[in-house]
Amino acid sequence: MKLVSVLVLLFVAQLSIAQSNNSAQVARGKYLVQRVGMCGDCHTPRDDKGMPLPGKELAGAPIGFKPLAPMPWAATAPEIAGLPGWKDAQIVTFLTTGKLDGRAPNPPMPEYRLSASDARAVVAYLRTLGGAGAKSQKSTATAK
Ligand code: HEC
Repeated sequence: MKLVSVLVLLFVAQLSIAQSNNSAQVARGKYLVQRVGMCGDCHTPRDDKGMPLPGKELAGAPIGFKPLAPMPWAATAPEIAGLPGWKDAQIVTFLTTGKLDGRAPNPPMPEYRLSASDARAVVAYLRTLGGAGAKSQKSTATAK
C-alpha cells in the first residue's frame, strides 16, 4: 500500500514537471513566432488600416507586396494556426532545413534554419492556436 502511494506521488511529480516543461516550451515558441520570426507579418490577415484582425492570428493572408523583378512568388501565406494537415516532424524539418518534403517554399517565405529545440517550440506553440472557431471561419472563407 505504501509503495503504491509513493509510486503515485512520483507519477504526479513527473507529470507536473512534464507540464511545466511543456508550458516553457510553448512560451519559447510564442516568443520565436511573435518576436523573432515575425510569422504574423505575412500569415495574419489585416483590416484595411493594416491592423491584424483580432482572433485571426496566423489564420492565413494575402501577401500585400510584389517583387520588382519576375521571380517565383507565393501570393498568399497559408493558415499555420494549429498547423492543419501537417505532422510535427514535417514542420520541424521545414524550420531547421528550410525544406518541406524536400521542397523549398516560394518567396517571400523565409528559409529558416532554427535549432531543433527552437523548431519544436514553434510547433508546440502553433499547435495551441486555431480552435473550432478558427476552423469554421476558415471554411466560410474557402466557400467564397
Ligand atoms: C515574409 C513573409 C512570411 C513570413 C515572415 C513567414 N512566412 Fe511562412 N509562408 C509565407 C508564404 C508566402 C508561404 C507560401 C509559400 C509557398 O506557397 O511556397 C508560407 C508558407 C509557410 C508554410 C507552409 C510551407 C509549405 O511549403 O507548404 C509554413 C509551415 C510556414 N509558412 C510557417 C511559417 C512560420 C512558422 C513563420 C515564422 C517563424 C513564417 N512562416 C514566417 C510567408 C511568410
